[in-house]
Amino acid sequence: LREKQVTNLETVLLVLLIVSLGLAGWALKYGLKERRRRKGRPLLDGRALPEVNPQDIDEIFTENETGTALTAEAVLLGEQGSQASTTLDEVWVLAALAKKSRTIFEFGTCTGRTTYLLARNAPDDARVGTITLTPDTMDTYHADDSDPDNARWTQIAKDESKFTNFHYSGTPVEGKVEQIFGDSKEFDETPWTGTCDLTFIDGSHAYSYVKSDTEKAIRMTKNGGLVFWHDYSPPCVGVWKYLNELGQSLPIKHIKGTRLAVLRVS
Ligand SMILES: C[S@@+](CC[C@H](N)C(=O)[O-])C[C@H]1O[C@@H](n2cnc3c(N)ncnc32)[C@H](O)[C@@H]1O
Repeated sequence: LREKQVTNLETVLLVLLIVSLGLAGWALKYGLKERRRRKGRPLLDGRALPEVNPQDIDEIFTENETGTALTAEAVLLGEQGSQASTTLDEVWVLAALAKKSRTIFEFGTCTGRTTYLLARNAPDDARVGTITLTPDTMDTYHADDSDPDNARWTQIAKDESKFTNFHYSGTPVEGKVEQIFGDSKEFDETPWTGTCDLTFIDGSHAYSYVKSDTEKAIRMTKNGGLVFWHDYSPPCVGVWKYLNELGQSLPIKHIKGTRLAVLRVS
């Protein structure tokens, strides 16, 4: 009898062990999936911006029973072969909002893919300003030794400054684009003060530039207008750190599934 009791106990323990291992495996799989979904957001960064869906930032992104409403349809261009890393979902949010934006400004032109899509989707009388460095002007870059990982971000900014011919060049929307060449810390934004419906910050990702571009963009954007930032993610330390700090005093949000952050100016 005693031998039988011992065998039963062993069986129960074995079953418990198998169930525990199964549960641990499931928890690990779920944890890894969730981490991938959050695209590397540190789980313990209490200052990370709150996440929202596009429909939480503007009514054009309303969903109906079939999905996203047609108020958010837009002309798009794939990202294959493009130097900039703006994804289709990211560029879609900007392009759809451009449809109702008369004055738009972009920090960082690169190939001009986003510039083109902003101009292509904007009304006929829209004005799209965009600033970039070029091989001729990149020596005006104001590196700041106190920026985290300064040398790396200076190099990246310079590597992305090789374009002088853009996606919009020679197209019917070229007339809407006002191309500015030069360093954004030197850019005088005062003629644009309070005029922009939509501002997109995607120039140098060094902390001091994100700060300077942001301060200008907020001054340039009208009440009720939107300021967007690209590359809100931990590897882009200047954008990540600055926006997490600014998010303590302004209602900046992170758009779920993207590296876009957004502020409605009020
Ligand atoms: C990430 S790319 C922009 C990508 C573009 N917005 C798009 O979506 O296709 C960075 C751009 O910022 C520009 N840039 C970098 N540092 C700058 C600076 N100090 N002043 C002005 N433009 C700068 C680069 O010349 C490059 O055009």
